[in-house]
Amino acid sequence: MKRALITGITGQDGSYLADLLLHKGYEVHGVVRRCSTFNTRRLDHIYRDPHDAGRRLFLHYGDVSDASRLVTLLAKVRPDEVYNLAAQSHVRVSFDEPENTGDITGMGTTRLLEAILMSRPETRYYQASSSEMFGATPPPQDESTPFHPRSPYGAAKVYSYWMTRNYREAHGMFTVNGILFNHESPRRGETFVTRKIARAAARIARGLENRVYLGNLDAIRDWGYAPEYVEGMWRMLQLDEPDDYVLATGVATTVREFAEHCFGHVALDWRDHVAHDSAYLRPSEVDALVGDSGKAEAAFGWTAQTRAGDLARIMVEAELKHLETAKAPLAAVPEQMGR
Ligand code: NAP
Ligand code: GDD
Repeated sequence: MKRALITGITGQDGSYLADLLLHKGYEVHGVVRRCSTFNTRRLDHIYRDPHDAGRRLFLHYGDVSDASRLVTLLAKVRPDEVYNLAAQSHVRVSFDEPENTGDITGMGTTRLLEAILMSRPETRYYQASSSEMFGATPPPQDESTPFHPRSPYGAAKVYSYWMTRNYREAHGMFTVNGILFNHESPRRGETFVTRKIARAAARIARGLENRVYLGNLDAIRDWGYAPEYVEGMWRMLQLDEPDDYVLATGVATTVREFAEHCFGHVALDWRDHVAHDSAYLRPSEVDALVGDSGKAEAAFGWTAQTRAGDLARIMVEAELKHLETAKAPLAAVPEQMGR
């Protein structure tokens, strides 16, 4: 039985990756931050009581800011594959917390790579790199496009990208960068724009609220469906040789068009319900990200299947279902913090 360790297992991608690896028969170990509230909600459906025989999901407290903990964890688990998905992943927040973002999204990678080098260098390593690294460089973007990050988050991811390559070149480790364009799902964090819009469209359709405040509607993103992208992560670690790959749909959609899709799905006109708030603008914006994943298709046959219109439908449907099943509809997420 193969053994995998996932940092960021409680996040959107970590939870889908855990689903996939358990389905493939892996023993899955996840690193979870100690919080004063439960942060394992996305894992509820696969969680098994520690006393159950035969369980294959194991959760360990840890934090990528804690190097000694990573060393003891790697020595204890001795995984075949490590997926480093842990990050302060919100671009807008990275302007408020540049140092913390550098520590977690940047230095966290080095701490983890060093712990692997010390304990079991033959471990295969996946780094969650990002299209945000391309920043100001115009689309289409692929593996040879120069980086020009436009946020502390993007800069931290560029650092992690190069550290991942350096451990490959300097130490001969099997390390890969998956350069993933935006990918979304009903498990997306509530303050990312697709989930924020899908959630608002459903709540407005049910009469629970009337307006959603957004920032830049002109931004262009390449939005795919998260479960397809975690399959791509896994395939990268099954190749004969380590390399770096873009995963993207290749389709450009503006924030405005995504709002049109979501509100259209509940027969509403987005213009009646979307208002502007400059708090959601970034000090420097990434205008357009549209990827070319031809290299991944040639190397391991990966192509994105779901496009923005279908993604909007999946996300709005999930929000409507949630409203139907929730005993009392949850209060609106506080939006005042400029995200
Ligand atoms: P996410 O939902 O924000 O999940 C981030 C995960 O990192 C969470 O499990 C979080 O734990 C964990 N984390 C944060 N700080 C940590 C720390 N100090 N120590 C250990 N764990 C920590 O992000 P995602 O959308 O799943 O993305 C997964 C990864 O891919 C991230 O690295 C992200 O930057 C990158 N990425 C995402 C996209 C995308 O479109 N989704 C595209 C390209 C790259 P809590 O649950 O406790 O907060
Ligand atoms: N979050 C947010 N909230 N974004 C808004 C809003 C709003 O109210 N209004 C407009 N936007 C615009 C942002 O300015 C940005 O141009 C676009 O919507 C997408 O924002 P996010 O959903 O926050 O995602 P992101 O593109 O900044 O970053 C995501 O994708 C990256 C890959 O390109 C994150 O998942 C990153 O972790 C990931 O690396």
